[in-house]
Amino acid sequence: DGLHARAVAAGKKYFGTEISGYVMNDASANNIAKNSQDFGQYTAENEMKFDALEPSRGTFSYANADRIVAQAQANGQIMRCHALIWHSQVPSWVTNGRFDNATLISILKNHIANVVGHYKGKCYAWDVVNEALNEDGTYRSSDSVWGRTIGPAFIPIAFKAAAEADPQAKLYYNDYNCDKPGAKSTGAQNLIRMVKAYGAPIHGMGLQGHLTTGQVGSASQYVSNLQAFANLGVEVAFTELDIATPSSNPNFNQQATDYATIVSACKQVAACIGITTWGFTDKYTWISNSYPLIWDRNLQKKAAYNAILNAWGSS
Ligand code: G3I
Repeated sequence: DGLHARAVAAGKKYFGTEISGYVMNDASANNIAKNSQDFGQYTAENEMKFDALEPSRGTFSYANADRIVAQAQANGQIMRCHALIWHSQVPSWVTNGRFDNATLISILKNHIANVVGHYKGKCYAWDVVNEALNEDGTYRSSDSVWGRTIGPAFIPIAFKAAAEADPQAKLYYNDYNCDKPGAKSTGAQNLIRMVKAYGAPIHGMGLQGHLTTGQVGSASQYVSNLQAFANLGVEVAFTELDIATPSSNPNFNQQATDYATIVSACKQVAACIGITTWGFTDKYTWISNSYPLIWDRNLQKKAAYNAILNAWGSS
């Protein structure tokens, strides 16, 4: 029994976690991550990003990411692979290179061909493009080397390149603040239509789910949002769920309720195939001064754990 076992019993593909090399180096924490009853899926926190994998042009560095994939395979856990093209964590040789449109397209295609090729058959899904939208749903441009040099066409170009390198992988667009209906969620739906209009494949929408305790609200708004993506013919997943509560004054019961709300929403929509949390223990979280996860900083289960089990239902 566990978080993943209950998700599978509810008809989902996985419940998973983000993991990283430094968490794997903590044997007690890693024992939790290796329990495939709780986690059926991993996402690498930083190890598969552009700067990690192609630190200098044409030189690929796979060892740290391979270590995560190897642990997943040893425990029968699948990989969501993250992330091919993003404006952040791009190496300076790309951002400072002042490449023209055609050269940057060839750099993008070469990166995708190499990386997706290296992991061919090992990634259930790829986050092909990450965070390409502004909050109002327009395409990010000035602060993205890809958007400002190539324009929004970099998005379908990336999806085509990923499909050529691994025709079996589910190809996702992934973003934050698209979790509920609103301008950015509508923008993501338009992005999916745009990729299809270019004749490129897109199979999934990743809702990151970086949420705040007490501001989650009711399941119904998440259900209708999930359904809006499903209506476009793509699957949907919560890809980076965490629910912040301040370490100075945490509210773990409200947090547990909020985790259950998201699980319940996913459970209600067939196209929602799984949930990944952005880490599992408050000992290791990207959010400073917060306790957003399911195990506390002493690696003990919090109220959220049983709330998630109950929200999935019996095993
Ligand atoms: O690797 C360098 C190291 O060489 C250097 O000495 C050190 C000093 O600052 O920085 C290290 O890089 C850090 C990197 O994580 C690896 O640890 C960066 O500073 C730090 O900014 C980076 O943060 C990551 C962040 O993405 C970057 O935007 C977080 O760990 C990671 O959890 C976070 O994950 C993102 C998802 O990929 C996309 N969605 C949002 C999510 C949360 O921000």
